[in-house]
Amino acid sequence: MSSLQPPAERIWWKEPIEGVELFWVAIALVWAIVMFIMMPYWHVYGKQNLSNEAYRTTPEQYGKKVQAMVEQYTVRKETAQEIPVVHPPAGADVYLLARLWQWYPILELEQGKTYRLHLSSMDWQHGFSLQPENINMQVIPGYEMVLKITPNKPGDNTIVCNEYCGIGHHTMTGKIYIK
Ligand code: CUA
Repeated sequence: MSSLQPPAERIWWKEPIEGVELFWVAIALVWAIVMFIMMPYWHVYGKQNLSNEAYRTTPEQYGKKVQAMVEQYTVRKETAQEIPVVHPPAGADVYLLARLWQWYPILELEQGKTYRLHLSSMDWQHGFSLQPENINMQVIPGYEMVLKITPNKPGDNTIVCNEYCGIGHHTMTGKIYIK
């Protein structure tokens, strides 16, 4: 039977399954089970899937927390837009916000110290992608995500937005400096 012509038999589905078809169904089933098991396995044993906390918030509430940290711990300003570089004390709660089309502020953290990094969006859905570490998080307005991070090597990390957020999406980059 070809799929181009109508089936010769009206009750076309009551045919024996060919061995090769069964074989592919079995492969697909086994692979689906493997992938399913990998989800919890990788969460516990892999280094990729992050355990984060999430809280309800509003852009207004979150913006106030970010601004309070910026006012307290700004050490200098950078880039043409004068974005504050914030150096909070080791072990502190640090706040980063996403908005069209900026990551605010620039964070300066210390190697080997643990921080609670808070993330939220002021407007739209953005994607937090930290390179070259390859940490990825969805950043959603109304939710405050909290990650425990311990930077393990010094350097300049770039944040890129990996969720399409409009005309300026490709310009939405930020920085986290590790000293
Ligand atoms: Cu923000 Cu794409």
